[in-house]
Amino acid sequence: MEILGTSDAELRRAGECIARGGLVAFPTETVYGLGADAFDPRAVARIFEAKARPSFDPLIVHVSSAGDADRVAYTSGPGAGALMASLWPGPLTLVLPKRAAVPDIVTSGLGTVALRLPAHSVARAIIAYSGTAVAAPSANPFGYLSPTLAEHVARGLGGKVDLIVDGGPCAVGVESTVLDMTVDPPRVLRPGGMPIEAIEAVIGPIAGREPSGAASAARDLAMPAASPGLLESHYAPRTPLFLFEAGAIADARPTGRAAALILSPASKAALEAGAGRFALARYLSATGDLVEAAAGLFAALHELDAGGFDEIWAETAPGRGLGPAINDRLFRASRR
Ligand code: TXA
Ligand code: MG
Repeated sequence: MEILGTSDAELRRAGECIARGGLVAFPTETVYGLGADAFDPRAVARIFEAKARPSFDPLIVHVSSAGDADRVAYTSGPGAGALMASLWPGPLTLVLPKRAAVPDIVTSGLGTVALRLPAHSVARAIIAYSGTAVAAPSANPFGYLSPTLAEHVARGLGGKVDLIVDGGPCAVGVESTVLDMTVDPPRVLRPGGMPIEAIEAVIGPIAGREPSGAASAARDLAMPAASPGLLESHYAPRTPLFLFEAGAIADARPTGRAAALILSPASKAALEAGAGRFALARYLSATGDLVEAAAGLFAALHELDAGGFDEIWAETAPGRGLGPAINDRLFRASRR
């Protein structure tokens, strides 16, 4: 394994590696992806092997331009064109009918394929240099926290990939929103970096949106039958993680040496006023800004997981903007 920077020559090398059947980890605006040529079943098989990912969990195919999307999927259905025009490039993955050329291993044998045009210039350059479409799940061992730094990838998958391109921290910090465009109305399969409100502003009401407020609503979203990969336990640190509702830090019952992961100014104030039952408090945003909180979420969990704590207690987010995406990750990371 070799770590590359982001000079044009290095991005070209990364793209050529993918074209030759290699495995390349690279940054996107959401999380680091582990990419291989989507039309090469043997290269894609190496992704599943490196991640120890079950073969029933289909991959997202990434393209570097909207024009390339038609090589992978049928994009002419109602709504898809409007979303692609308004919200791509960006953290929105569309599930569409697949083209026959996409191998079954990419889609776990489904008739649909998940398609995304990332906003990160490094990702787009690598995909363009590869000359193909790139299948890329998050670059983490299956079930573990997603990587938002190159060093997370190196620690988790180091020996198993050919190249890691280090493009610094991922700006969005949670994976893309996955939207099933093959049903009417379209349905959210995974809340993510594209807020539901932004999608509904383009195509009107969609299904599967979380009722506002309650973190417990993340539970209702767990594992829709249409998306085999959305397992209830996922994104999980090794340290047991427990949740408390927004603002209700008094409800947390830490035992042993515990760390708190704090989202709201109210909980920050309560802790500073001497709640004192935590060995460490980590603030995701001093002001309750959900974009800032999402951007730092996985890095904070990686950090706390390496901190030797007995427990992590995490505060859930309100149900607007990136709140549902944060709550989905926290809920799946938690012990219930
Ligand atoms: O932000 C992201 O989406 C990142 C970056 C690297 O692009 N990728 C990512 O991939 O999160 P992954 O493999 O970790 O998650 C893909 C999700 C899984 O939950 C999978 O079940 C779902 O998309 N998915 C993929 N293909 C699908 C399909 N044809 N139908 C329904 N769900 C699908
Ligand atoms: Mg993943």
